[in-house]
Amino acid sequence: IRLAVLMGGLGEEHEVSLSSGRGVVQHADYRKYLVRPVIIDREGQWRIATTFLTAPMALEELHFKDYQIGEAIEVLRREVDLVFIVLHGRFGEDGTIQGLLEIAGIAYVGSGVTASALGMHKAFFRAVAEHTGILVPPGVVVRRREWEERPEEVLARVRSLDSFVVKPAAQGSSIGVFMVENYQKLREAIDEALKLDGEIIVEKRIKGKEVTCGVLGGGGKEILPLPPTLIVPRDAEFFDYFSKYTPGATLEITPAPLPENVIQRLQEIALLTHKTLGCRGMSRSDFIYDEEEGQIYLLEINTIPGLTPTSLIPQACRAIGMSFKDLIDYLVEDSLS
Ligand code: DAL
Ligand code: MG
Repeated sequence: IRLAVLMGGLGEEHEVSLSSGRGVVQHADYRKYLVRPVIIDREGQWRIATTFLTAPMALEELHFKDYQIGEAIEVLRREVDLVFIVLHGRFGEDGTIQGLLEIAGIAYVGSGVTASALGMHKAFFRAVAEHTGILVPPGVVVRRREWEERPEEVLARVRSLDSFVVKPAAQGSSIGVFMVENYQKLREAIDEALKLDGEIIVEKRIKGKEVTCGVLGGGGKEILPLPPTLIVPRDAEFFDYFSKYTPGATLEITPAPLPENVIQRLQEIALLTHKTLGCRGMSRSDFIYDEEEGQIYLLEINTIPGLTPTSLIPQACRAIGMSFKDLIDYLVEDSLS
């Protein structure tokens, strides 16, 4: 199979994506795949490796040729069988690149347009989850325009939440996420988050354990929930960008040391969410487990979760004896149906 690995991208998670992409290039089974790294740079140029790799190589050692997007799509259509999208966040995980490849008739790994778009957009995602009977933290959606025109009204709507998490509607890796303990600081946090997105969510901050649960499959392969992981950032207040990508900054335990019924429930919700959106390939649902209340809150789903050395899906796979190589195979096979 001639496999393009698409990484980088225009979004704020460019570096994270490069790290995930390197993972795929390093771990792919070269007896099965010819691998063609493709890097979308920050200016939107597509840099396509001039040859297929037949063994793992560092990206720095490769020659790339630059293309405009239209030409790049033409090259991929002619020369590859499948695109492994390892872009995170905006213009990668949000259905836009999936739509581009659909129109061009190029096969790709992972969720389609609708699942990607719904998964990435926290406001719409909340609505779908609630409709499905999945518990999400109480919260409200705030649009830039209403904040500019009627801030007092917005503040009145969110006041009852008591403690707050402010986040852009469509961002990943906790970029632009603010924990706000007091109402006085809320204005500032809303201003900041609205710089990153025209739409933001102000949620009640749920105190509890951070847990995540991956699900594989949904296309040609059977749907397989992975064991949940308990996340304990060592110094940070929550699982922020630093804790996510700094080796050793976070304690991650798979399977999560939680009661069996909680583990089961986490897997059920992750599975239900994956199926409701119609995800393919993989997804990772992030939760807060409030032990005192015995409640599990779903925070979000990621349809292209990180595959970096510190990322959670590869760890969860390892816990069931599935190597990174096996994971790549599973995802590729899932897309070939
Ligand atoms: N948004 C990052 C890549 C993740 O969810 O792992
Ligand atoms: Mg995310």
